[in-house]
Amino acid sequence: MVSFTFPAPELAKSQMVMNCQPLSVVLTGVSLWILMLSLSYGTETDIYCLRRVKDSLEDPYGYLNSSWDFSNNTEGFICKFTGIECWHPDENRVLNIRLSDMGLKGQFPRGLENCSSLTGLDLSNNKLFGNIPQDISTILKFVTTLDLSSNNFSGQIPVSLSNCSYLNVLKLDHNRLSGQIPAELGLLGRIRTFSVANNLLTGPVPRFSNASNITADSYANNPGLCGAPLEACQPASK
Ligand SMILES: *[C@@H]1O[C@H](CO)[C@@H](O)[C@H](O)[C@H]1NC(C)=O
Ligand SMILES: *[C@@H]1O[C@H](CO)[C@@H](O)[C@H](O)[C@H]1NC(C)=O
Ligand SMILES: *[C@@H]1O[C@H](CO)[C@@H](O)[C@H](O)[C@H]1NC(C)=O
Ligand SMILES: *[C@@H]1O[C@H](CO)[C@@H](O)[C@H](O)[C@H]1NC(C)=O
Ligand SMILES: *[C@@H]1O[C@H](CO)[C@@H](O)[C@H](O)[C@H]1NC(C)=O
Ligand SMILES: *[C@@H]1O[C@H](CO)[C@@H](O)[C@H](O)[C@H]1NC(C)=O
Ligand SMILES: *[C@@H]1O[C@H](CO)[C@@H](O)[C@H](O)[C@H]1NC(C)=O
Repeated sequence: MVSFTFPAPELAKSQMVMNCQPLSVVLTGVSLWILMLSLSYGTETDIYCLRRVKDSLEDPYGYLNSSWDFSNNTEGFICKFTGIECWHPDENRVLNIRLSDMGLKGQFPRGLENCSSLTGLDLSNNKLFGNIPQDISTILKFVTTLDLSSNNFSGQIPVSLSNCSYLNVLKLDHNRLSGQIPAELGLLGRIRTFSVANNLLTGPVPRFSNASNITADSYANNPGLCGAPLEACQPASK
């Protein structure tokens, strides 16, 4: 711009030639930025997920506050957060979340619905309360391991868990869950580890198609569960 104010045409010409270089650098910068934007677009949702999770939980010991820093927005930055494992260490796509034993308080973090490739969730040993969401199968579509044990969850076990068909491990023990265990959980064909011990559950237990590793221990310390591997249900309890 300044070059056009020079009187000598020859000087102006040479200035314009020189100006071409910064212009091309700017253009390259813009296209690089567009490229990076399109590359990171697919994982933008996982960043949003962790923001929502952090915002929705009380974190009295500052575990998340000290580690989950969203200001350095480089590709893969969330993969270094405490408790976060990514599919690839330099791609913002979350594979597993392990936030066990951190004193976290609040309701089940719905923001997890935006971690679109999550397969493992461990929130055990915290102070989470309220219902497990009825639509949990739409929040955790691909979950293979779900550990919500040793919290303060109450209400019924959602029937939609039976739609989390990849589940291998389901641990809901040591909560305040009540009512019956949905019979539909028996449809979970891949379940290996299952525990609802130490809750307030009653009624018949599900019939798993492959119950090789599901024993009475899975159901211990509930007020009224029945059916194999426990004692048979009384006709009246049906
Ligand atoms: C977060 O998930 C909800 C429910 O699936 C969806 O409606 C919303 O668009 C998602 N937001 C982002 C930023 O991905
Ligand atoms: C979060 O961490 C920052 C420093 O990293 C600190 O100044 C702030 O007090 C912390 N907030 C809470 C709620 O712990
Ligand atoms: C952002 O994070 C990357 C990778 O951890 C690091 O190399 C870089 O120095 C950080 N930048 C800032 C401004 O903190
Ligand atoms: C669990 O919730 C009950 C009330 O529903 C409360 O009395 C109890 O203190 C809570 N326990 C924990 C460990 O937060
Ligand atoms: C399970 O998924 C099927 C098919 O998507 C759907 O029709 C059904 O309502 C779901 N059941 C529950 C309990 O969410
Ligand atoms: C049942 O589960 C056990 C592991 O708990 C596994 O080794 C076996 O292959 C499974 N059987 C079927 C029919 O899926
Ligand atoms: C069987 O279940 C127990 C606890 O319920 C678990 O620790 C163990 O890993 C399970 N075994 C297999 C082979 O999945």
